[in-house]
Amino acid sequence: MTQDLAHSVRPSAEARAQAEGWWRSAVIYQVYVRSFADSDGDGIGDLRGIRERLPYLAELGVDALWLTPFYASPQADGGYDVADYRAVDPLFGQLSDADDLVREAHRLGLRVIVDIVPNHTSDQHVWFRAALAGEPEGAARARYHFRPGRGAGGELPPNDWESVFGGPAWTRTTGPDGTPGEWYLHLFAPEQPDLNWDNPEVRAEFESVLRFWLDLGVDGFRIDVAHGMVKAPGLPDIGRTEQAKLIGAQVLPFFDQDGVHEIHRGWRQLLDSYAGERIGVAEAWAPTPERLALYVRPDELHQAFNFQFLTCAWGAGPMREVIDQSLAATLSVGAPTTWVLSNHDVVRHTTRYGGGEQGLRRARAAALLMLALPGSAYVYQGEELGLPEVVDLPDEVRQDPAFFRGDGQEGTRDGCRVPLPWSGGAAPYGFGPGGSWLPQPAAWAQLSVEAQSGDPRSTLELYRSALVLRRELPGLGDGEMRWLEAPEGVLALSRPGFVCTLNTLGDEVTMPVPGRPVLATAALEFAGGTVRIPSDSCVWWAV
Ligand code: NOJ
Repeated sequence: MTQDLAHSVRPSAEARAQAEGWWRSAVIYQVYVRSFADSDGDGIGDLRGIRERLPYLAELGVDALWLTPFYASPQADGGYDVADYRAVDPLFGQLSDADDLVREAHRLGLRVIVDIVPNHTSDQHVWFRAALAGEPEGAARARYHFRPGRGAGGELPPNDWESVFGGPAWTRTTGPDGTPGEWYLHLFAPEQPDLNWDNPEVRAEFESVLRFWLDLGVDGFRIDVAHGMVKAPGLPDIGRTEQAKLIGAQVLPFFDQDGVHEIHRGWRQLLDSYAGERIGVAEAWAPTPERLALYVRPDELHQAFNFQFLTCAWGAGPMREVIDQSLAATLSVGAPTTWVLSNHDVVRHTTRYGGGEQGLRRARAAALLMLALPGSAYVYQGEELGLPEVVDLPDEVRQDPAFFRGDGQEGTRDGCRVPLPWSGGAAPYGFGPGGSWLPQPAAWAQLSVEAQSGDPRSTLELYRSALVLRRELPGLGDGEMRWLEAPEGVLALSRPGFVCTLNTLGDEVTMPVPGRPVLATAALEFAGGTVRIPSDSCVWWAV
């Protein structure tokens, strides 16, 4: 196959960094900071570790990185519980490391997006400590959602909302003398109290935090729970249990309220006031592609994660339907569509697609499909190595708060967060000079960056080739696509000068040769104007 061709042309880092509307076609690599690379041997990834590995990302051919939260935090939810939005947690380094990382990334032509967590703070944030120490009805409590309980003695939560991690979304406070007091709202863990976005102080503080990081040079923000900051007036009951199952399926009094859009419009103005196309990316769970598209209207955020694509079942029918719906919805507001297969909250797609050899075949094919689609794509660290979910972590090493709160949530998020294997035959496989905060499987020796580099059949080289070709072939990235006729179970999509064919079936298919093959996830056989495309495979063709 022609993977060599893919390595022949590389646009300069400078040319890439200057590209206008860069985010419309960008491939953005998600770095889960604590699991990417550890520089100091404490077994936890850090900012310096990332900086040392930036050449790997530049060579891989991505355009930007998104860093998960590295701010000062008690780590009750992997850093999504922020105690100080302007400080780097000592686990991950110091502010100068963030500065160095951004500068070095820019030097290599990579943009840097950081996570911002505006729906909730840590319970150790100075505001929440003041709130707990303050009076009911006082100004310190007005930054959060405090309410008296229901029932004769206030012993019942103020409403029936459930935490996304399981259990009630309310925790009762206790006064210094041990008397039970008001309750506070936390849609996630009790250590993550929800902020009250009706409070102007909250709005002003986050503008200031955004400016802090924009001034440091970051290229944008991934906005955590962008659909959750505004709650329905009066905090009405939902009237049923197992509410986590409704997330992304319907508008809830705490998710996807229309009021969030005004906040995002304000943030867009702030982003636009900085040079260099700084972007906002919504982590928003909306019930339909149309409602998701509201987050990326021209005066709102630039991108929103397409979780409909991530959660889509393997198969030509469902995939085509999701792709069509996604494209139509974003087209209606003029935004680029985004595509994502994995992140730090879901089971890795190699495993979701069936695991083992079949899962890997499908994961490789899905990657080529994703990178052929119009718009921007997200790559979660390790998917370029074909890493599977680690499904046998012992309970005692687990850290995900969802695991401990159980009930309806399977607590599966640690298995996709196991530190990356870089090199060598034994754990921690070059992750760092010490151990790794979650144990890595023995089989990962064969999956390391070192083991896969230079092997044309490896998943890493497949990604490298695809990312180079994506830049080289003018028809890829943002733009139009149309479907071509194809055998049942096969998707064939056409972009200018380009065709992508995906065989989702368990059997090979024979079809007319659509062009000159430039990249394929499996070996092809040609005979008299036809090609045999193996099961669960994807091919890129130049036409
Ligand atoms: C979404 C993040 O991706 C997830 O990891 C986190 O637990 C929740 N938001 C709460 O911040």
